[in-house]
Formats: sequence, C-alpha cells, structure tokens
Amino acid sequence: MGGTAAGGGIILKPSESETMARPHIEYIQNQVIPWKKLAMGNSRPGAEGRGLSYDPDTQAATTIMRYPKGWRLSDAHYLPCDEELLVLEGDLSVGSLTYHAGDYAYLPAGMPRPSMGSDGGAVVLTFFEGDHGTVFGTAPVGMYDPARLIAKIETTKMAPVAPSDPYVAAVANKAERKVLREDAKTGERTWMVAFGPEDPNKLTHGKIETHPIVEEFFLLEGDIHMPCGVLTKGAYCWRPGGIEHGPVGTRDGFNCFFRCKGGPMTTKWSDDAPQIPWDAPYNPALPDRLRAFVDTPYDADALI
Ligand SMILES: [Fe+2]
Repeated sequence: MGGTAAGGGIILKPSESETMARPHIEYIQNQVIPWKKLAMGNSRPGAEGRGLSYDPDTQAATTIMRYPKGWRLSDAHYLPCDEELLVLEGDLSVGSLTYHAGDYAYLPAGMPRPSMGSDGGAVVLTFFEGDHGTVFGTAPVGMYDPARLIAKIETTKMAPVAPSDPYVAAVANKAERKVLREDAKTGERTWMVAFGPEDPNKLTHGKIETHPIVEEFFLLEGDIHMPCGVLTKGAYCWRPGGIEHGPVGTRDGFNCFFRCKGGPMTTKWSDDAPQIPWDAPYNPALPDRLRAFVDTPYDADALI
C-alpha cells in the first residue's frame, strides 16, 4: 500500500482491492489453491502457505501452513499478532511444546518463541489475527498477555457436549460439540461440531439461519449439503454477518472446525423450513483470487 512519511512525497491511493473488506468465501475446497513458498519476512520462512482468506486492512489471514520435514526457525522470535492453530497432519513444535494431528492452540501476540520446528513435517490450519511477520528478538513489554494463552488442547481426547442451540439439538442426528476457546472480552469463540449421518428421504426440510457476526469454518470430515453445493472434507468458508444460509443436510455426517469473529455467536432461525437442496451444483460466492481455481480438479478423499 502506498503512503509517505511526513515531509513530502507522493501519497498513493490504495487500490480498490486493498480497501475491500474481508470478502465472503462460501466455499472453496482448499485442495485447489496453489501452495506459495514463504520467504524471509513472512511468518514462517521456508514453509509453504495456502491462503484461504485475507483482510488487506488488518493483514489478518486464514491459511494452511505446510512445513517440510526438518523445518526450523531456530532464533528467538515473536509475532505481533495472535495465532490460532489446529494441526491437521504431522508434528509442529513451538518452544518446548509439540503439537500433533488434532492438537489446538491459541498463542497471543508477543508470546516469546525460543524456536519453532517440525521433525517429520506438518500441515497446520493457521489463523493470524493481524500483521504476522516474524520479528526476531523479544516483544515490547506489555504486548504479551499470558492470560489469553491456550497452550495446547488435544481435541481428539476432549469429551464432547450437547449442542447449545435447541433447534440443532432437536433436529440433528447425534450432534456434539467441543468448545476450544471463548474470548472473555469479545465473546468470539472457537469450537468443533460433529453431526451423525442423515437419511435424505427422512430429513427433507430445514430452517434458514443468520448470524450477526462472521462465521468461519473448515470441514475436517464428511459432507455438508447447502444451496451453494456439496462441501467435502477440506472445504473452507468465511461468511460475513447478516448472510442467510441453509438449510443444510449431511449424508455421511461431518466434523467441522468453527470460529465466530466480531462478537458472540447467536443464530436467528427462519419461521419456515424450506426443502434441503441435496446434491446442489457448486455455485460459490468467491473473490476473484479464488474464483480462478473453481474448475481445478481435486481429490475429495484427501483433506489437503
Ligand atoms: Fe451458520
């Protein structure tokens, strides 16, 4: 983005794409997005990233990071933004903690990182909440708030609870959720939801839902049928607040990782329950950057 220090020079107007809010993505299979090698100045030099969603105003980003076998960031460093992660494959170490598939963490801005590494390689769903360039050295005093740290949750060992929404609890087959994080100040939350399989001949109708805040999700297992298509594992969605969605169905059941951004999650359900669009053709809402890949074939049996 253009600009100038005080004292003269040209002030460049940011381009339109740079001023656009974080765009609606519903949905993209991550498998179709090319990997980008990350250079110095990035969050993880030497690793690769698959950009799912990006906010040009804040530099917040949702990515899939792929760390090669033996990857190391040996010098002490920190990030100037919060990082949230879920390991999808392999192993990743941050200081003395090692994460494996299914492990979750929330690492606040400024947290001291003596080193990072991956012995066997790793694929990690990663959320950066702002400028995520690695900064070598120690963070300014006061940046790191240890009270916000979630050092590690082994999600596969966590006991699920019933859904909080009475409509979901009544309609869905064997719905379960695991709450991983709830921000005390903002009410933003991160959680996982699993549904059992449904019979399309029995589950024919469902309500439409709306949330006042962003709903973001990554499908870890199974399928979700929506009016915009059939999401298979590896599907990603960033849905801004106020957008009606549903009704949804699932044939095989699913396990999905969710976040809400901008406040606590509340749902407004429609009074009526229209027909569930089983097997609808792919008709996504996407920014141009991702629309370019919609016809790329992908392996629906592979998560990545
Ligand atoms: Fe929703």
